[in-house]
Amino acid sequence: MQIVHTPAALREVLHAYHSPAFVPTMGNLHSGHLNLVTLAKPLGDVTVASIFVNRLQFAPHEDFDTYPRTLQADCDKLAAAGCDVVFAPAEADLYPVPQTFKVTPPTALADILEGHFRPGFFTGVCTVVMKLFQCVFAEARGPRYAVFGKKDYQQLMVIRQMVEQFALPITIVGGETQRADNGLALSSRNGYLSSEQREEAAALSISLRSLGHAAQALLSAHTAGADVALQALERVALEQLNARGWKTDYLTVRRRSDLQTPQAGDALVALGASRLGNTRLIDNIEIQ
Ligand code: PAF
Repeated sequence: MQIVHTPAALREVLHAYHSPAFVPTMGNLHSGHLNLVTLAKPLGDVTVASIFVNRLQFAPHEDFDTYPRTLQADCDKLAAAGCDVVFAPAEADLYPVPQTFKVTPPTALADILEGHFRPGFFTGVCTVVMKLFQCVFAEARGPRYAVFGKKDYQQLMVIRQMVEQFALPITIVGGETQRADNGLALSSRNGYLSSEQREEAAALSISLRSLGHAAQALLSAHTAGADVALQALERVALEQLNARGWKTDYLTVRRRSDLQTPQAGDALVALGASRLGNTRLIDNIEIQ
């Protein structure tokens, strides 16, 4: 496996290939990331992972400075997973001058849910992903794939729309969320949790699953006032989680296609973000 740090070095390495399959990450890798690499491997003739903690998507009060940087351990895991090339730029390699050009996603999708509680987050994500795509796919002459985890459900939708609207010749693939035995979605930020908190953290996915099923039953009953009743279900779910010691930003059920309020017959996804101690966890469950 080759490890390169600059866009120029990456291009030089990738010149020998036609079809990169790309997995962007911020490092501190767990088996959820490695599963994305496994998904990517058959999609191209070279598998590329990036490791870059992107300052642009962190608000000043968030954990940019303390976000774990574990490059050597990450590279060992990526090599074992069969990754061919790691792109691990320093900040000055990717942002040699302040990144004043930005990619701003539409407010209807990007200023709700995560974007509401983390203003500017999706602009930071889109800007770095667009730039990483330029670096990784610059030399490609065949099909181009990029793989993102469904755990960041809204991020995956934003990236899909960005690729579509900019007519980027890249196919976006979503990888299923990997979970611990108790249902806790794997996340780099789980490393911040104590062992008791890890046990308690399962409550987020349990709460989303039961909220999602209650919403589905409500909507399929086709009764008037389902919107108001759904809001009441969401409020109760939030209060129940908070009563266990969480501080919840949102627990909600949305239509999968655009993350807006669902109507009867829509495919549903339950999404949530909540803080356990100082750790903010997000999760989602597609309701079948
Ligand atoms: O999901 C992530 O880890 C990040 O948001 C991403 C896509 C690597 C961009 O920094």
